[in-house]
Amino acid sequence: MFDKDTYAHRREQLRKSIKDGIVLIPGNVDVPMNYRSNTYRFRQDSNFLYFFGLDQQGLAGVMDIDSGEDMLFGDDHTMDDIIWMGPQPLLSECAERVGVKRTAPFSGLAEILEKAKQQGRKIHFLPPYRAENKLLLEDILGVGVKEQPAKVSVELIRAIVALRSIKEPQEIAEIERAIDVAWLMHTTAMKMASPGVYEHEIAGVVEGIAISGGGMLSFPLILSIHGEILHNHSHNNKLEEGHLLLMDGGAETAMHYATDHTRTMPVSGRFDERQKAVYEIVLDAQLRAIRAIQPGKTFKSIHLLAAGVIADGLKALGLMKGDVKQAVEQGAHALFMPHGLGHMMGLDVHDMEDLGEDHVGYDNEVKRSDIFGTASLRLGRKLQTGFVLTVEPGIYFIPALIEKWKQERKFMEYINYDKVQRYLDFGGIRIEDDVLVTSDGFKVLGRPIPKTVAELESLMDR
Ligand code: GLY
Repeated sequence: MFDKDTYAHRREQLRKSIKDGIVLIPGNVDVPMNYRSNTYRFRQDSNFLYFFGLDQQGLAGVMDIDSGEDMLFGDDHTMDDIIWMGPQPLLSECAERVGVKRTAPFSGLAEILEKAKQQGRKIHFLPPYRAENKLLLEDILGVGVKEQPAKVSVELIRAIVALRSIKEPQEIAEIERAIDVAWLMHTTAMKMASPGVYEHEIAGVVEGIAISGGGMLSFPLILSIHGEILHNHSHNNKLEEGHLLLMDGGAETAMHYATDHTRTMPVSGRFDERQKAVYEIVLDAQLRAIRAIQPGKTFKSIHLLAAGVIADGLKALGLMKGDVKQAVEQGAHALFMPHGLGHMMGLDVHDMEDLGEDHVGYDNEVKRSDIFGTASLRLGRKLQTGFVLTVEPGIYFIPALIEKWKQERKFMEYINYDKVQRYLDFGGIRIEDDVLVTSDGFKVLGRPIPKTVAELESLMDR
């Protein structure tokens, strides 16, 4: 964890943006997998980690905006806990590590909030995403699960988004440490991908590397010869000559800072001509999008730039036609890239998405598009120095979507369906890196993972 001044400073910054009342940030608890004592791997809430740093279950942080006091609620471990878990620090010792002086048993949380409620003070809480915390809020605040979305504190959400969006140098260093692990995950997959190997054989090794790095995967691994299925988490296929293998995978460090990279590789070790032509378009879109990054530009404009490069390239291949600019404005390219160019990344792989995608990615100036494809863009607003985001264009041939649009005779002026029909067995290609917005442009974070055709083919040469 970072030093205690980091957490005290972050809370101090947050306090400046909240007018009054009490801020409640519950941590997460262990969640049973199939019975009470067999739990999923514990993952602390990222807001709790950001402001209170402690990576253990059963805690809640409270900031009294009016008195300036911070409190941690939780229970010291019993002898029974210690028998099963080994020696544990006292709550007061944990609190000291994050600069919090006042602690109390977890049962005291309901009392203090009840008192505040009776005094008519505002209690700021965030949108809970886990059932356990929804029930906790119902219990201690008397706000029913169904009423909670309407009662969350938008003031608190906005203040946290403003703070967490700008990464501290120590956070960037942590992300780059995670990328060392991601580099090994991706290059190992490239070395293992060959005819006869099953996806799950590679997936298991890749997940093991993430764990060996001291943390875990930052999201369930996407590793599939069906790259056209955007979030394909099944790993049952056997790799064969001529397949493309898409791996979208990230590590998170022990401190939970994430990475997110995608590479698409030829199982045969060499791209065929058709694969290479599509790959080069995606790579061109990615490189041009990255080069366009600078503070003050909207990410939506960069998304549209990448979409234009893709539509241009597909037109050169004869798959699209007509006026490329108009095709992109109207969303015709989304047949091939139905997702957004990228998202914020940090303590969460989709950073702060629990707070609401639109609060993170949009503002009064830039609103989310309602056009299919562009509507999926998670980050549209103006970039600022210190943002960390992904840049991940792709081209996919999704048979069901192609069939639907063709039946509907959609965008006949921009799409050459006869030619597209010949790519139904192609799969999909996505290329993704993690990028820091700097005061004068951008920095692609971490050790470069092979991504040009020559780099991939050289690494996969056997
Ligand atoms: N890399 C997975 C995602 O962005 O959803």
